[in-house]
Amino acid sequence: MRAYYLDKPDRSLSPEELAAEGILSWQLPTDPADYAAPLDTIRAERGYVEMDEIHLGPATENLEGLCTMFFREHLHTDEEIRFVVGGSGIFDLRDKDDVWMRVHVVPGDLIIVPKDKYHRFTLDEARTITCKRLFQDTSGWTPVDRVPAP
Ligand SMILES: [Fe+2]
Repeated sequence: MRAYYLDKPDRSLSPEELAAEGILSWQLPTDPADYAAPLDTIRAERGYVEMDEIHLGPATENLEGLCTMFFREHLHTDEEIRFVVGGSGIFDLRDKDDVWMRVHVVPGDLIIVPKDKYHRFTLDEARTITCKRLFQDTSGWTPVDRVPAP
């Protein structure tokens, strides 16, 4: 994971600075045999009872349309939890002063976007990612677009 201010790529953000913005992150092993136990611990501690896997890649139907949708600034009324198991991607998140922070995630990265935090997602130049999505439940998890977009 590499995190920085979008308009200041040299200004890195530490996991502690992200946590101060409510964005929690973990670095887990990339081998399933090694990440299973720590992932189960996080799921149990935080009550993530549901989990599925999403893949985006060149073979994904309407990939560019999906990316356009994911890149619209939005929030959720519940946490968005993603554990990257393949590929890579980009989360942009607003800090408390409404400034974009960029988090580039790679395999082994687990990130929690807190509820009510404006953010957007896109692929990087590799154009592929595989993530496990964790949920407390799926009910409060509809994107709410920022309107009007700033
Ligand atoms: Fe989201």
